[in-house]
Formats: sequence, C-alpha cells, structure tokens
Amino acid sequence: MNSYKEQDPEIYSIIYDEVLRQENELQMIASENYASKAVMDAVGSVLTNKYAEGYPQKRYYGGCEFVDKAEELAISRAKKLFGAEAVNVQPHSGAQANMAVFLGFLQPGDTVLGMSLDHGGHLSHGSKVNFSGRIYNSIFYGVKESDFLIDYDQVEDLAIKNKPKLIIAGWSSYPRDLDYARFREIADKSGSLLLADIAHPSGLIAAGLYSDPVPYCDFVTSTTHKTLRGPRGGIIMMKEEHAKIINSRVFPGTQGGPLMNTIAAKAIAFNEALDNSFKLYQEQVLVNSKLLASLLIDSGFECITGGTDTHLVLLDLRNSGVTGKDAEKALSDAGITTNKNAIPFDPQPPAVASGVRIGTPGITTRGMKENEVKIIAKLITDAIKNHNNEKVLVECRQKVNELCSKFPIYSDLIS
Ligand SMILES: Cc1ncc(COP(=O)(O)O)c(C=O)c1O
Repeated sequence: MNSYKEQDPEIYSIIYDEVLRQENELQMIASENYASKAVMDAVGSVLTNKYAEGYPQKRYYGGCEFVDKAEELAISRAKKLFGAEAVNVQPHSGAQANMAVFLGFLQPGDTVLGMSLDHGGHLSHGSKVNFSGRIYNSIFYGVKESDFLIDYDQVEDLAIKNKPKLIIAGWSSYPRDLDYARFREIADKSGSLLLADIAHPSGLIAAGLYSDPVPYCDFVTSTTHKTLRGPRGGIIMMKEEHAKIINSRVFPGTQGGPLMNTIAAKAIAFNEALDNSFKLYQEQVLVNSKLLASLLIDSGFECITGGTDTHLVLLDLRNSGVTGKDAEKALSDAGITTNKNAIPFDPQPPAVASGVRIGTPGITTRGMKENEVKIIAKLITDAIKNHNNEKVLVECRQKVNELCSKFPIYSDLIS
C-alpha cells in the first residue's frame, strides 16, 4: 500500500486515477513513455532529500559521498551510450538544458537560427513566448511546402546572410531523419556553433536507428523521458572544450541543487538503454510507427512527408473535414491519448490545428507489435471518421480497454 493512501487520500485518489488512465488507455503522445519500475523507484527514493549543489567531488554541501557516485555513474553511462566527450546530467528539463547552452555561448541580442515552431521546432528554439526568443534575436528555417522536408538551402541562405551565433538542429514534430553533416557544413560556412536538440529521437539515436549528431555538433541536448524512457529531465552532451562553461551555466547559471533522485534514475535508464533489449525495443517502435503511418494512409488519411523515419506520425487532416482539435477530442473519447499539432503552413490557429501527432514509444513499451498496431490504426480511423458519433466512440473505448488489458504495464500498482 502506498504510504500516502492514509495520509493524503485526495492525492492518493488522483494518482490512482492516473495509474488507471495510463493502464487502461492507449498513451500515444509522442513525447511520453512508460518509465520502468526501477526508474520510478529511484525517483521516489531518499535521494530526493539530498542537497548537492556543485559537481561530484566539488560540492557546496557535505554528505555527498553517495550521490557523487550516482552522478558519476550517470555521466559515464551517458558518455558510453552516446559516445560523447563530456556530459552534464543535471538539467531539470530539456528546456533548461537548452537554456544553459544559450547562457554559456550567447550574449543577449545574439542571433539564433532554429526550426520554426509552426514547422515542427520547439518553443525553446527561439519562440517569442520563451526565454530563447525574448532574450535573443531568433530567426527561423522551415520545411518546403512541396514535400514538408527541411529546406537545407534555406537554412544555408539564412545562416550565411545572418551569421547566427548558434544554429539549432532539432524538432518536436518532424517525422524524418536529419542531415547533421549538412548542418555542420552550413555552421562552418557561417561561423556558427551547432546545437542538436535530440529530445525526441534520443532513444532511437542511442540504439543506432537515427542519424548520430554527436560527431557533428558542439552541443547535443536531450530530454530523458521521451524515447529514452527515463525519468523526466534533461542532459547536455558536448565537446570536452565546452564542458567547463556549460557546467557553470547549468549550476549556478540556471539551477540550484540538482535532483539527485532523478539523476540516479537517469543512470538506471542509461543502463537500460545500453542493454541489447533496448535496441530491439527501438526497432519495434519504428516498425510500429511506419506500419501505423502506412495503415492510416491506406484508410484515406494523409501523413506529413508520407510516412516516418521516427517514433511519430503527423496526420494531416486538412482534407478530412476534421480539425486537429476535434480529432484529439474524438481520440480521447475513444481512450486514445494524442495531441493536436500544427502542421507546416497550417491554415488553422495553433489552438485548433490541422494535425494530430501520434507516437508509438508507449504502446511499444507495453509490448504491442504489428497485430496490435493494425487494431489501433482501425480504432484511430473509426474514431476520427466518427468524431461526432458517441456510440462509435464508446465502442472504440471498449476495444481500447480490452486491448490494454492484454498488455498490462503497471498492474502491480492497481489494487
Ligand atoms: C525538441 C524539444 N526540446 C526541448 C523540449 C523541452 O523539454 P522539457 O519539457 O523537458 O523542458 C522538448 C519537449 O517537448 C522538445 O520536444
């Protein structure tokens, strides 16, 4: 029994409801996953009590002899996993990992060239509502209207014309591989530093199934909770020559004490990712996403770029008479959690959007394979095509619950 069941029944029942939601419904948000029990236990461990400002062997607090070992393990495992020269495992989140890079190497007002949010970039790549766009002069590249692929010629033109201090290669909703060698070539021509933000594909990269940015980039930032399947958090990989500055911008630049419980959980997740079973998992993530894209296309939907090289599919609903918002709601009513997403050149405002982003990391962690993806593709199709038909949505939800019951994930947390 959870210790807080008696002490705080209100919170207990909220968390319990969330366990049931994650267990009984299909979690297909591309940026989510199911962390292992080991990862979650470490997050809930006594390490949450420990202050450890500073870095291993150089702390501002006593009693760090054990947490030092946890952080050193996390660093060495991350280095091994990604082949990085230096790693900082302290960022509390992906956005804060990016912030440390900005703070380390840019002055306020310097120019940053990132992928436009509307075309699949991230808020922390220069959006006006984020620190990155408020403090720095952000300019953006995007995809071509003809094929929705990144317009590398545009990246090069913008870089040469504006000489950005930093170029960011990374995305939140771009279903294709990136040409990091081309980004490097461009950055060299414009005298820019190059940051790859691999928050989304980091698990695929760790498994060798997506292009590796490490040899080409000055910095590589990531979240640890998406395809990498660890605890919620961020990491920064970099060339050794940049480590001193980056470390000082993470702490004390942007953060106080590191979350040592989360760092231990990151170490566990990196170890899991070093195991061969993780490669098999990521291979299945890709098999599932590619199959999902092709089945959805067969049932009459369009997918941005006509498919995927990643764990996500971006449905283009412009010709379907349904908005992203309507589709997200219908899928949610059917027990399938996704998110509405702007597509490039979207005629709808972001709060409505013409796309839905669907990811396969979560269902694959549950053990779902091709047979289940076929069932899911049919359920997604039925739910979106019948978005106003409550009866169909209820039937879909029943089928979703049945499917989920065959692939338990946190059944030990259910009484
Ligand atoms: C490309 C990219 N960078 C950074 C982040 C931010 O990560 P966090 O939510 O941990 O701050 C995200 C999150 O979705 C992302 O997709």
